[in-house]
Amino acid sequence: KAMAILKEFENKCGTPIAKLRQVADAMTVEMHAGLASEGGSKLKMIISYVDNLPTGDEQGLFYALDLGGTNFRVLRVQLGGKEKGVASQEFEEVSIPPHLMIGSSEALFDFIAAALAKFVATEGEGSHRYPGRQRELGFTFSFPVRQTSVSSGTLIKWTKGFSIEDAVGEDVVGQLTKAMEKIDLDMRVTALVNDTIGTLAGGRYYNPDVIAAVILGTGTNAAYVERAQAIPKWHGPLPKSGEMVINMEWGNFRSSHLPLTEHDQALDTESLNPGEQIFEKIISGMYLGEIVRRVLLKMAEEASFFGDNVPPHLRVPFILRTPDMSAMHHDTSSDLKVVGNKLRDILEIPNTTLKMRKVVVELCDIVATRGARLSAAGIVGILKKLGRDSAREGAEQQKSVIALDGGLFEHYSEFSSCMERTLKELLGEEIAQNIVIEHSNDGSGIGAALLAASHSQFLEAGE
Ligand code: BG6
Ligand code: GLC
Repeated sequence: KAMAILKEFENKCGTPIAKLRQVADAMTVEMHAGLASEGGSKLKMIISYVDNLPTGDEQGLFYALDLGGTNFRVLRVQLGGKEKGVASQEFEEVSIPPHLMIGSSEALFDFIAAALAKFVATEGEGSHRYPGRQRELGFTFSFPVRQTSVSSGTLIKWTKGFSIEDAVGEDVVGQLTKAMEKIDLDMRVTALVNDTIGTLAGGRYYNPDVIAAVILGTGTNAAYVERAQAIPKWHGPLPKSGEMVINMEWGNFRSSHLPLTEHDQALDTESLNPGEQIFEKIISGMYLGEIVRRVLLKMAEEASFFGDNVPPHLRVPFILRTPDMSAMHHDTSSDLKVVGNKLRDILEIPNTTLKMRKVVVELCDIVATRGARLSAAGIVGILKKLGRDSAREGAEQQKSVIALDGGLFEHYSEFSSCMERTLKELLGEEIAQNIVIEHSNDGSGIGAALLAASHSQFLEAGE
């Protein structure tokens, strides 16, 4: 009976190539719709106001703040122009206390400002700041924000387990600025970016062929460089570059072609944001382990998979985290010791047979494979939109580099290798040769600092 449950789940999670192509096509269609008008699609296709990506000329000392991944990060970057590049870089990582993720806006921003102030106080001899100049900051805020300029925007909604009602609809930079003023931290936000935009900017700094960025982490999302003229909803002046970076917020993509199961539906219903971020809920790190838990629970309840009693810990939402799932999935020992230990330590299931452990690994594989293959389809959707998914006259040798970041991509190698394999499968050998996936480690922090530099209030002064 347990095997029947597993098989049924596997069938429902199926991602044959034909289905992935439908998903990729649907992604392209939704991209068009989201660019055509505000609210035209589940894909918000947010205009970032970034119309110039880093060139390498950026100079000076800049700060960055990165909120929205597993950890909250503060960075200090010394930029030395073309000659010296990123001359030095320091950062500190702080985890956000869970109660602040669901508390009040003021409490969250006070906490961030305090951490930033503490970090600023360590500015030392290696930091060369123009005397008398106000410090400037690039703020990576990895949630959907309706940008009103490159350095301001209002929060559309929270994702990834954050839920702070009074912040929704408010200006994110205004709130941070208020918190900084309260503690006399003299600093100005000159760029407000999504992590995908930061990653794209950071990636472009090192490699001019970077055209898109994808985050596979706690959440998932993508950004890419669009022709400004291909954005009907943009009524502003045409940027000199002719380009505009778009934050897709692809986590909120949905399509009838997505292979969804009863478990995904239940997870969604019971989540903090029901009906939203459906693509994210079947791909990203916050949810994969939880899906596995739900299927195991069903197997325990309906097929006594773990014996007569249902292990009580199996009923605890989010108890099985994706890093633990990944560790089980990567277990190469002949008796699947890691799996046994995880089941014992996390779910308090003391005695498991090798057969049970194998089933658990298979389940992890099903869930990770679906997510990885769907994210590959999403990337193909972007390449299609840009006309880079097939051979076109005169464009044979054009390289397209996609900057990837996030814990899922970085640490879950079964996931990332499956994603890259699927990309090749979808594109075909020949095209795939020109599509490069590049890991951009913590690129979003540097990217935000670079964008803070290129939008510095002092640039006009001639430096
Ligand atoms: C980091 C970026 O590298 O990846 C963050 O700097 C981003 O801004 C993060 O949110 C996503 O990863 P995770 O796995 O921490 O959600
Ligand atoms: C969520 C956020 C999005 C972010 C992504 C990756 O989907 O809504 O803004 O880019 O997670 O961190």
